[in-house]
Amino acid sequence: MRTLQAFSNKFWQHNGQLQNYIDFILCEIDPLFSRQRIGAEVFQIINEAENTKTFILRPPSRWEGFKPGQYISVELEINGVRMRRNYSISSSPKLFREKQLFSITVKEIDGGIVSTYLNNGVQTKDVVYISAASGSFGMDDLQSIDTNVPLSSTLFVAAGSGITPIMSMIEHIKEYNPDTVFTLVYYTTNKEQQIFSKRLNGLKDLLPNFSFIPHLTESEGYITKEQLKSDCPDITTRNIYLCGPQAFMDSTKEYASDLGVSDTALKFESFGSSPNTLTYNSEKEGVVNFTQSGNSIQSKGDKTLLELAELSGLNPKYGCRNGICFECKCSRIDGQVLNRLTGELIPEDQSQIQSCISVPVGNVSISDL
Ligand code: FES
Repeated sequence: MRTLQAFSNKFWQHNGQLQNYIDFILCEIDPLFSRQRIGAEVFQIINEAENTKTFILRPPSRWEGFKPGQYISVELEINGVRMRRNYSISSSPKLFREKQLFSITVKEIDGGIVSTYLNNGVQTKDVVYISAASGSFGMDDLQSIDTNVPLSSTLFVAAGSGITPIMSMIEHIKEYNPDTVFTLVYYTTNKEQQIFSKRLNGLKDLLPNFSFIPHLTESEGYITKEQLKSDCPDITTRNIYLCGPQAFMDSTKEYASDLGVSDTALKFESFGSSPNTLTYNSEKEGVVNFTQSGNSIQSKGDKTLLELAELSGLNPKYGCRNGICFECKCSRIDGQVLNRLTGELIPEDQSQIQSCISVPVGNVSISDL
């Protein structure tokens, strides 16, 4: 094994094609040998809640770690197509520092190709490819590790899978700042869907200043301003971290603002489908041609150019998948595309477009991504 890794290192300074060739061979022998991608071994899988599993991963030593609240992109090959999705890290940095392990927690969503595959097709010892950790959702003062100094009093508000980055922050507080005053308000449909319920209830006994307030929307309904105020009467003195589906976050932000919370006291990250979720639309049907590879694929208005490129067998570049980083830029040769964030057509004289937010309308030709 060492000889092969040394071989890879030696040739790594050489240019593109040689690197690709070597990497291909190394991956065929063992995916963990890859130098172009970061392979992480699935160390353990834990059933966390209904249709939700935690995957404890062991990345190679060159992976640089993370801050609580950050996410990674996970890449899998499913039916011959490489697919990537972002998942928040749900474990504490301490686990990584001490054992070189970290976890993601994935809820299987209806029609979600990657989440379904992770929950049903991945076993321990499998290898998944991961990106470096990124994202700015997290507590600014979490750097104060090893000090045992309480952090500013904090309110976490989560719904569904939005608990995952917050769990990482809570674990961090438990390990380094256990006297911090903090509250978690957590909404799920029912008890079966409550992720980490055992751990969270256990923490209540361990941390005297931690209040855990679960809500079940099936029986109690959705979040209200009155409920938020009663769960955290001193809400205006707290730093607030909010994570969940967009509609939940929109309501919570509005209620928090009505209760006198300033914009700067609230940090948020959205999970789940965005309000402008794409659905089949016969008026947008057409064929997308990728001019360099010659690949083409039928489009039905329910997928972005990035998703269509992946489904056609290409391996496009991307980062955030949300219109922020411009990593997915490509050239439009011909045809109309819609910006899924604004719902408006992108002007025809704009050739450079972001594939992750562009939805083809009719026939479209673009450069490979
Ligand atoms: S992937 Fe970041 S803008 Fe498209």
